[in-house]
Amino acid sequence: MVNKGGHRWWFVVVVVAALWWTNVVGQQQPRQASAIWVMGDSLVDNGNNNFLRSMAKANYYPYGIDYYRGPTGRFCNARTFSDILGDWLGVAAPPPFSDPTTAGNRILGGVNYASAAGGILEESGQHYGERYTLNQQVVNFETTLGQLRNMMSATNLTQFLSNSIMVMIFGSNDYINNYLMPNLYATSRFYNPEAFANLLLNHLARQLHALYGLGLRKFFLPGVGPLGCIPNQLATGQGAPGRCVDSVNQMLGPYNEGLKRLVDQFNGGSHPGAMFVYGNTYGAFGDILNTPARYGFVVRDRACCGVGRNQGQITCLPLATPCFNRNQYVFWDAFHPTQAANAVLAQRAYSGPPTDCYPINVQQLAQLKL
Ligand SMILES: *[C@@H]1O[C@H](CO)[C@@H](O)[C@H](O)[C@H]1NC(C)=O
Repeated sequence: MVNKGGHRWWFVVVVVAALWWTNVVGQQQPRQASAIWVMGDSLVDNGNNNFLRSMAKANYYPYGIDYYRGPTGRFCNARTFSDILGDWLGVAAPPPFSDPTTAGNRILGGVNYASAAGGILEESGQHYGERYTLNQQVVNFETTLGQLRNMMSATNLTQFLSNSIMVMIFGSNDYINNYLMPNLYATSRFYNPEAFANLLLNHLARQLHALYGLGLRKFFLPGVGPLGCIPNQLATGQGAPGRCVDSVNQMLGPYNEGLKRLVDQFNGGSHPGAMFVYGNTYGAFGDILNTPARYGFVVRDRACCGVGRNQGQITCLPLATPCFNRNQYVFWDAFHPTQAANAVLAQRAYSGPPTDCYPINVQQLAQLKL
């Protein structure tokens, strides 16, 4: 008698649990890569800066408010771009390099080296304190390689590396926390935007070449988004009312166009057996900002969590109260997109047309037999 209807009750529990699981860990796709390596800045940092003496941290509430693990150091309300791209590829989000528990079998699905305030140039973001720059992230990857060499044969490691994907999200801090801060950094005195873009691309090219030499073969390289539209830049009041800061957006053209050319150059015979893919973040994010309603967004010019003009003058502080309708905001804080915006970007990177992801998308990159 007591158990009458018990089956139905269990059924409801299982369905609710399944829905919750799908929501928090994302769609489970068949595994399409042996591992994902993530390098970059706060857009994809998933906890590295927690272990560094840095002012750029996000391991406090309300960061992670919608994430099943709560605050982890992700600069987002929930999952980052690389988390969601990993879902599409069927590879779980790789653990942060600086976490001491990232060792042994835990590195077999990849490692995340990304560090908030880190840039392509050594000095970018230094006013935030410690961070892993591009150079240091490559050195850290070599540490991982040393561990992998102890775990598998040379032949297997070669195979493992060539079936893995390296995602590198850099550039924002070289502008926001270097070139656009003339009081703290001298670069804008010595370089015009074209020369500065070339400086960044030369550094990046050198490290890409090094990573190729270490055995990586599949690279996904997103460009920089329209930084003139982030709440932090809107809050400077340099744009016309209701508009992005055009001068900042225009400055990014040479970098993004140059990165696309670099991809062509690297695919054109200089790096046999490899594929380099450019991600048009600027275009995809521009679409979100130009036609927000198409993607379900209502607010595009204010941070969900932050204080001051455009909620972008002071970024999301500990125990701040964020907006309630977080799926309707493009920006989570003064600098970073919400999970909802990251999801649009990741989906377009994974399966978008060549205007989003060039010359092939990440799904095709994963399937490529090299
Ligand atoms: C190499 O890979 C093969 C096939 O997956 C496996 O059977 C073998 O144990 C691996 N060898 C080493 C030393 O890891």
